[in-house]
Amino acid sequence: MMQFVHITDPHLDLQPLYGVDLRGRLERLVEHIARHEKNAAFVVVTGDLVNTASPQAYRAAAEILGRLPMPVFALAGNHDDPQLMYGAFPEVERVDLAPGRAAPCAPHVVHAPLFDAVLLQTRKKGAASGLVRQEDLDRLRGVCSAFPGRSAQGDPRALLVFMHHPPFLSGIEAMDAAGLENPRSLRTALEEARAAGRTAAGIFCGHLHRTMTGLWEGVAVWCLRAAAHAVAPDAIGRQMAGLHEAPEYARIVMQPQADGSWNILSQTMRFTEDEEAFPL
Ligand SMILES: [Fe+2]
Repeated sequence: MMQFVHITDPHLDLQPLYGVDLRGRLERLVEHIARHEKNAAFVVVTGDLVNTASPQAYRAAAEILGRLPMPVFALAGNHDDPQLMYGAFPEVERVDLAPGRAAPCAPHVVHAPLFDAVLLQTRKKGAASGLVRQEDLDRLRGVCSAFPGRSAQGDPRALLVFMHHPPFLSGIEAMDAAGLENPRSLRTALEEARAAGRTAAGIFCGHLHRTMTGLWEGVAVWCLRAAAHAVAPDAIGRQMAGLHEAPEYARIVMQPQADGSWNILSQTMRFTEDEEAFPL
């Protein structure tokens, strides 16, 4: 069994955003994860680390996330500026996952005994919409050819995909207008991966600021609610509206199966209210 934590869209800002102290919220999230997610092998943040990109904002994000006792991996969303982000979250071609505290970074590939993860940079310069880049698809192909679907001991090895923009249409028109422009390119790459014996076990993303889960092209997709504000689901036309809903993160639990597949569960967790447990 393996566990990790998925965070998305913290939109850290040095000033309150829509009346919310998002710096304080990220600090509270980190405290909560450190206390309650001791079995997590790593934490991944799927974009929009900051609301307005600046070196100071990224330094603050890296300092807060760096308090976590497990490795932290980040990728860029449409609010991010990769070059500024890499100043605080160094760009790394590949990380071999090792337990313990490490400075947050922005790897393209994470390699571990039980999985390979590919972090796609779907941010498109100057746009809110996203694009799967050819160089990231080449990385995906490279991972599938370099690393087998089973370990030397015969254990299945999962293929995970992390990205900011979901590959599906959400039905929220304003968000779909800022969606992924070339999902077919990803579909083709995942079909090739499947033919090479590496079936994607799941795609984890953000951007929508709403939790949506399901199947896309036969692959399980988890789009997680933002750690910052929510987007209203009933936006009319292209006019987007925000909502102050309780933010969440997700605890992902993966269990390998004898046939080489994985059972994957995503449990969304709240962290902004103290909830008192009682015996049942
Ligand atoms: Fe966002």
